[in-house]
Amino acid sequence: MAYETILVETRGNVGLITLNRPEALNALNNQLLDELIEAVGTFDADPAIGCIVLTGSEKAFAAGADIKEMQPKSYMDVFKEDLFTKADRIAETRTPLIAAVSGYALGGGCELAMMCDFILAGDNAKFGQPEINLGVMPGIGGTQRLTRLVGKSKAMEMCLTGRMMNAEEAERAGLVSRIVPKGELLEEAMKAASAIADKSLPIAMMTKETVNRAYETTLSEGVRFERRVFHSMFATHDQKEGMTAFTEKREPKFKDE
Ligand code: CAA
Repeated sequence: MAYETILVETRGNVGLITLNRPEALNALNNQLLDELIEAVGTFDADPAIGCIVLTGSEKAFAAGADIKEMQPKSYMDVFKEDLFTKADRIAETRTPLIAAVSGYALGGGCELAMMCDFILAGDNAKFGQPEINLGVMPGIGGTQRLTRLVGKSKAMEMCLTGRMMNAEEAERAGLVSRIVPKGELLEEAMKAASAIADKSLPIAMMTKETVNRAYETTLSEGVRFERRVFHSMFATHDQKEGMTAFTEKREPKFKDE
C-alpha cells in the first residue's frame, strides 16, 4: 500500500512509522488512521520485526483527531461509522510499540501515544486532552487510559480544564517512561527499540500481554495469569538458550521459538 499521510521504514529489525501531515500538525483524519492501522498491522504480522516505533514531527506528535473532518458530522454519522472504534486495533498490536513524542500530543494524539506500550518524551513534549474546549470529551480511550496512568485527580483536571502537561509533569505523573533532549529523541527511541527487538519476540509479546493484564483484572488473577505464562516460557527454546548462555558467560542467540 502506498501511504500518503505516514512514512514507513524498516531499520534492521525495527519498524519506524512517522506521522506525516505537517500542514495539520499530524491531526488524525480517517486516511491517516487507516494508513496507520495498516502499517502497524503489517509490521505486527512480520516475524522479522521485533519492535515498532511511532513518532511525529518535532513540533507535533499529533494535535488530535481532525477537527475539520469531525465538525460537520451528526450523531447518526458518528454512530453508524462507529467513529474511532477502529483505532482500538493499535492497542491490540502484539509486537512491542514505542511512542516517541516530540511537541504536541493532544486529544487523539495523546490517546494514540497512550495506546503504545510506553512513551519516550522529548523535553519539548506537551500532553493534553483539550476536547472539552470543542464541546466534546476524549473519544479514543483518553478518559480511561489517562486515568489509569496518572490517577483520577490529574486525569480529571486535564479532561475538565483542557490544560496541557509539559514533559517534566508527564514524567512525574507516570505518563512517560523518561525524557530525552528533543534532538536525541528518535535516536534514543531506536536504541530502546533495537534492544527490545534483539530479545526473543514471543517472550516479549507474552511479557507485554502480561503487563497489560494488570489493567484488565484483579491483582490475584493478574498474578495467577503471570505465573501460568511464566511457567509456559520453560517450554520455549529461548528460555533454554537464555539461561544456558548466562551460565556459559556468553550472549544468548534467541531463535524466537
Ligand atoms: N484538527 C485539524 N486541524 C488541526 C488540528 C486538529 N486537531 N490541530 C491543528 N490543526 C491545523 C490548524 O487548523 C492549522 O491549519 P490551517 O493553517 O489550515 O488553519 C495547522 O494545523 C497549524 O495549526 P495552528 O496554526 O493552530 O498551530 P499553532 O502552533 O498556532 O497551535 C495547537 C498549535 C495549540 C496544537 C493548535 O493547533 C490546537 O489547539 N490544535 C487543536 C488541538 C485539539 O483541540 N485537539 C483535540 C482534537 S479533538 C480529539 O482529539 C477528539 C478525540 O479525543 C477523539
